[in-house]
Parts: sequence; structure tokens; C-alpha cells
Amino acid sequence: MTPGLFDPLDLGAVRLPHRVLMAPLTRMRASQPGDVPNEIMRDHYAQRAGAGLVISEGTQVSPEGKGYADTPGIHSADQVAGWRAVTDAVHANGGLMAAQLWHTGRVNHESLHGGELPVSASAMEFRCRTSLKDADGTVVRANCPTPRALDTEEIPRLVEDYRRAARNAMDAGFDLVEVHGAHGYLLHQFLAAPSNQRTDAYGGSLENRARLLLEVVDAIAAEVGADRVGVRLSPFGTFNGLDPADDGESGLYAANALSSRGLAFLHLSEPDWTGAPALDDDFRKQLRAAYDGVIVGAGAYDVAKAERLLADGLIDAAAFGRPFIANPDLPHRLANGLPLAEPDKTTFYGGGARGYTDYPAYDG
Ligand code: FNR
Repeated sequence: MTPGLFDPLDLGAVRLPHRVLMAPLTRMRASQPGDVPNEIMRDHYAQRAGAGLVISEGTQVSPEGKGYADTPGIHSADQVAGWRAVTDAVHANGGLMAAQLWHTGRVNHESLHGGELPVSASAMEFRCRTSLKDADGTVVRANCPTPRALDTEEIPRLVEDYRRAARNAMDAGFDLVEVHGAHGYLLHQFLAAPSNQRTDAYGGSLENRARLLLEVVDAIAAEVGADRVGVRLSPFGTFNGLDPADDGESGLYAANALSSRGLAFLHLSEPDWTGAPALDDDFRKQLRAAYDGVIVGAGAYDVAKAERLLADGLIDAAAFGRPFIANPDLPHRLANGLPLAEPDKTTFYGGGARGYTDYPAYDG
């Protein structure tokens, strides 16, 4: 019998009570100065502890990795303490939580770094925007500058930033970490050919382009145990100015290379929620063949899609993003066929409790 959405799942070091996961959702509400997780973030996540696994919003591994206003970090003692309050609250409500480890690379702005240019695989002109805040706190969009290419000699320092962030995540009480290798951010900028023109050991062949991702994963796995590490990839995605779209080849290559490493999960961020074509089953089968382990699907899921892909053996769990924003008790609603509330898009990024901690559970 194939498992259903509400059956338990062994995910590396932890056992999930069911397979409805909360996808990572950046909400730009960390306290300033210092990008510190705060009480409304604690309450937001605690309300959603009924997820099989709560995955945190993208959380920068270093000051350099920050690319948007008011996103949280996991590189300072204050941030670790702030996250500790969050994970304690999620655990007190019976949940499990992963930290999504993030470096935005070129999706960034020099005003976040005292005028210093952001870093990337290559110093290529880049047409994309990021979200900043103006003097009165209003979110504004700003063009990203042409980044500076990371020197080969800087790579060990970068890998060390990830390793330290993973250690901090454990100290902050997270059960797992998820490496953000998706959506056109730094690790994806190295992996995808259109954003990587390097001529050193980190550019050119697929093997070279995947090297940074694998070095980061290996450093983190050595630090916290491979069974506490997941990786998010987004093959075919045109996110954040990755154009032309990555064709899926690098995603399959990375999945195959990760397969032997005994990780907790591979998280597939599917492209169709941004209007791109949906993944076909042929690609899903190739991914299944490439990766021996738990595959989590995400992007425009509902119960029918999730159950169909579970029944066909193409995913092992489904992560939901936007539905969790307005439905803190989403797994309960899905399991019981209860109606779903619609999220207010105007409060997705930035602001306070409104549109963040004020969505009620169905049962009040
Ligand atoms: C996202 N998504 C996202 N993904 C990620 O890997 N890290 C992140 O920090 C964020 N932040 C984020 C914020 C907001 C407001 C949205 C809507 C989305 C993508 C998210 O995890 C998920 O893949 C998509 O939302 C698609 O799933 P749904 O919403 O169709 O279930």
C-alpha cells in the first residue's frame, strides 16, 4: 500500500506525524538592528506547529548573505537566542522545525552592505530587483547591481559561513537544516550555467558548477549529521533573473550527487506557482531514479495533487507555502475537508502582526 498524505514519514533523524510540511516563507519582519527573530515571529511559527515539519523562512548564514530588508540571520548570538525562543514554542506545541540556510548572492543591494557590492559566481550584468525599506518603513523595490565575482580563495570562508550557521541552528534548537540551493540565490547562481562564467574549479562543467553546493552540504553534514540536512532545488525555475531557465539537467545532476550522502530529504520547488509550465511525470521519474531518499514536492499543491503523486511513488511528502499563510491549522483543514482562507498578498512582505499572526484557526 502506498502511503497517504496523513501517514507518518521518517525524515532522516526525525519522524513526522504526517506529510503536510510548511514551505519556507520569507516575511521580512525580523527586528532591527541585527536581523533578530522576535516575538511575532515566534507566535507565527508556533501557530503553525501542526505542520509535519515547519521549514523556516530563508535565514542568512552571514551578513554578506542578506539580500532583502528585515530578513533574519543565524550568525549572531542574538539571532540564535531569538530562534531558540521560536523553536521552543514550536516544540511546546508538538512540532518540528528546520532552519532554511540562505545566501542570496547577487539578489541583493549595496545599501544593505554599506555600499559594498554583493557577491556571486560571476560579475555579470544582472536584471533583477530586491525588496528594501525606505525611511518610513515602506517596502520598496530596487534594482540589483552587477555583483562582484567571489575569488577562488574566498570559497573556504563561504563554506565555513554555512557550517557555522548549521551549528548555530542546532544550538538554536532546530531539528534539521535545509540548504537553500534554489530560486536563483547564491548556490543556484553557481549551479546554473547562465549565471556562472567561472574558469576555476567552480565553473564550466556540471561537476564544477555543483562543487560549491556539494562542499557546503558536506561541511554541514560533517557538523550536524547528514540525517539532519535537507536540500532545496528548483530545476526549470526562472526565479530571480535566472534566464534562460535552467533546463533540469543541473537539478538531476545535483540530485544524483546528493543521493549517496544519506541526507534527510530533497526538497523540489516546482516552477508552476510563478506561472511557468508544470513539471511532467517524466521529469519526476528521472528525479526519483536520480535520488535515493525522501523527496518533498512544493508549489501549487492541493490534497488531490499530493495524493496523486504519493500514490504514483513520485514524492514522499508535500510542502505548502501560501496556504499556510492564512491557514495556521492547514493540516487539520486538509485532513477534514474544511474550507481554506485566502491570504492577503499586501501583507506578505514586511509589516507587523496584521496578515501574519492574526489569521485564526478554523475552530477559533
Ligand atoms: C516564498 N517561497 C520561498 N522559498 C524559499 O525557498 N525560501 C523562502 O524564504 C521563500 N519565501 C517565500 C515567501 C513568500 C511570501 C512566498 C509566497 C513564497 C516559495 C515557497 O516556499 C513555495 O515554494 C511557493 O510559495 C509555492 O508553494 P505554494 O505557495 O503554491 O504552496
